[in-house]
Amino acid sequence: MFVQKLILRNFRNYDYLDLELDPKLNIIVGDNGAGKTNIVEAIQFLSLARSFRTQETTDLIKEKRQFATIEARVVESTTHKDIVAILTPTSKKISCNNKQIKRISELAELVNVIVFEPKDALMFSDSPLVRRNFLDVNLSKKSSIYLSKLMIYERLLKERNKILKLEKIDMVQLDVVTKRIIEVSEDIIRYRSLYISEINRVLSKIVSQIKGDEEKASIEYHPFVKCDEHFVENATRAYERALEGDIKRKITSVGIHREDYTMMLSGKDVSAFGSQGENRIAVIALKLAPYFLIEEKEKRPIVVLDDVMSELDNEHKNRLIAFVRKFEQVFITSTSTNVKNASIYEVDKNQKITRRNS
Ligand SMILES: Nc1ncnc2c1ncn2[C@@H]1O[C@H](COP(=O)(O)OP(=O)(O)OP(=O)(O)O)[C@@H](O)[C@H]1O
Ligand SMILES: [Mg+2]
Repeated sequence: MFVQKLILRNFRNYDYLDLELDPKLNIIVGDNGAGKTNIVEAIQFLSLARSFRTQETTDLIKEKRQFATIEARVVESTTHKDIVAILTPTSKKISCNNKQIKRISELAELVNVIVFEPKDALMFSDSPLVRRNFLDVNLSKKSSIYLSKLMIYERLLKERNKILKLEKIDMVQLDVVTKRIIEVSEDIIRYRSLYISEINRVLSKIVSQIKGDEEKASIEYHPFVKCDEHFVENATRAYERALEGDIKRKITSVGIHREDYTMMLSGKDVSAFGSQGENRIAVIALKLAPYFLIEEKEKRPIVVLDDVMSELDNEHKNRLIAFVRKFEQVFITSTSTNVKNASIYEVDKNQKITRRNS
């Protein structure tokens, strides 16, 4: 799929912007603060009804304006969809071909966008939450069953924590909730393990192509309890062992909400041994991996790489550009460029954008 046309009104720094986009490689160039990320943020917003940069809808609306709109024409095979998002400080409404979208899971089907954002470069030294989010967002896009299991888990976890906070804990009730948590956790771990093994099928190839040398890369997932035929017993024991501490601290200390994974490059943990550039390449490869797990070419996501080039030397920059040409539509933002055979959009401080072919 690709975005053919994008129209923004009152979005971030833009009063009005009307862009025809390239189905392949789009490079958005401009000085710091010119408005490059704002453009890709608008495209990404359409895939999740949420920005990768902010939780607050008001941040997306131009100062002193009452609303913002994002309009996009998304082309998939021979059909196209007109997606419109209307944002006000208190609401966000999205429609496709004039039909209101009610659930975010419907949206993921319509516009699928993969994003690398600058802070992702530190993903492996960031908190486990960031790494879990990557898994949960991608798995939820792929499977609405996973999303519903995750939502059930979150509800049960809240319930368990609420019980732990009571002055007099109802142990029977706690036991019932814990049993249900264990049941849904088994499914979640199974989904996570399977998805990570799928990622591992493609990861080494991606890293090797960006690095230019054969390199073994893999994700090591650390479930809180191994998912085998003894899962229920082992998980029950894990909750029993943690019980005293959980009661004391009034919070659930074990479970899938605390899980993590590491990335290995040539058998070494990238967060501990990798250079800055290697960390960046590792994260880029991980973020791009889901692209290759979608069989149908037409369904493959739009790729947004925001400020991906910094810290990479020229050789790696060139290899990354050569690599991303394999993808369908790609957006790269940068403060400078010498990329050939791409549509270049030069953004200046006055919201003026000039397009040229390089
Ligand atoms: N709601 C808003 N209303 C008005 N201006 C905004 C709003 N939100 C952000 N801006 C402005 O938009 C400008 C452009 O931001 P953007 O993040 O797109 O820059 P950029 O070109 O990606 O810069 P960099 O190279 O530093 O990443 C910033 O100067 C910012 O102050
Ligand atoms: Mg930016």
